[in-house]
Amino acid sequence: MAVQKNAYTPYSRFPVGAAILSVSGKIFSGCNIENASFGLTICAERCAVATAVAAGERQWKAIAIASRSGVTPCGACRQVLVEFGMDFEVLLVDSESEQITARWKISELLPGAFELEP
Ligand code: THU
Repeated sequence: MAVQKNAYTPYSRFPVGAAILSVSGKIFSGCNIENASFGLTICAERCAVATAVAAGERQWKAIAIASRSGVTPCGACRQVLVEFGMDFEVLLVDSESEQITARWKISELLPGAFELEP
């Protein structure tokens, strides 16, 4: 995934790319952006969500996440993703083989997600 090359990862050297496919068929991408404070690092998934939402898109069909080992989204990113629906797919991609290594529904990755006044 091309955006993975733009990841800013001087601390972990672990670049991640994420691409959201919106219901309107557009793709919004993001990469991880690390910070010297560590805690202010932005994951690729949240970067992609910000890109999509800033463009006016809030509904998507899928998000693909590419990394060296095809990692799953962290807990914080799962919570940010479920803000925008429980019904889209999460595709994990091994960036070395460029193969999809796993597919989930976001609802499977965060059962019992926090909702304000459900
Ligand atoms: N990271 C992501 O961007 N997405 C994930 O799903 C897991 C972790 C980033 C955060 C940090 O820049 C690096 O990967 C190592 O944790």
